[in-house]
Amino acid sequence: MTGPAPLRLLGICGSLRAGSYNAAVLAALPSLLPEGVSLEIFSGLGDIPLYKAALLAAGFPAAVTAVGVAVAAADGVVIISPEYNYSVPGVLKNAIDWASRLSPQPFAGKPVSLMSASMGILGGARMQYHLRQILVFLDAEPMNKPEVFIGAVHQKVTDGQLSDPGTRAFLADHMTAFATWTRRRKD
Ligand code: FNR
Repeated sequence: MTGPAPLRLLGICGSLRAGSYNAAVLAALPSLLPEGVSLEIFSGLGDIPLYKAALLAAGFPAAVTAVGVAVAAADGVVIISPEYNYSVPGVLKNAIDWASRLSPQPFAGKPVSLMSASMGILGGARMQYHLRQILVFLDAEPMNKPEVFIGAVHQKVTDGQLSDPGTRAFLADHMTAFATWTRRRKD
């Protein structure tokens, strides 16, 4: 008997901060995946220029093409981001705005897992609901539940590593659910 087909996921972090808590959580995910699932972390978000029509008229910048190719090639995408001023950080929104101009638009029909981490108690929830709204226009397929809001993240990351056992276990369950969500959309 053979197991389910392998799944390749892409992880995108909305923070460019050295020592980012969200990046630390994303870095932990490859060790929390069910069998047959892999996750590659996209590292080129900071190379994407600010969206400008004149740039687009000259052709998509290579950094934009790179994110489009990576999203298109993935079976599913995990987006983790901090909340800035109750919403989506500009760097992430800018990347999405660029990607939305690609044809084919790579997020269309793409399973997406949403996560956020914050030092506050709400764990970036307000950002996630704005991001869900953006994903409607992109025609992506964000998983509804289980949601991941990591509050007080500074108490859960030690020396750049996600150390909190409860959070690790919860994320492992989330990733199992996301693998199922993604496979259902591939079948
Ligand atoms: C923040 N932060 C923040 N936190 C939050 O829970 N809600 C918010 O609205 C905001 N707003 C905000 C705006 C700006 C411009 C900054 C720089 C920060 C705090 C933020 O969650 C904190 O800095 C996190 O540590 C950022 O995530 P990373 O970089 O650690 O992944």
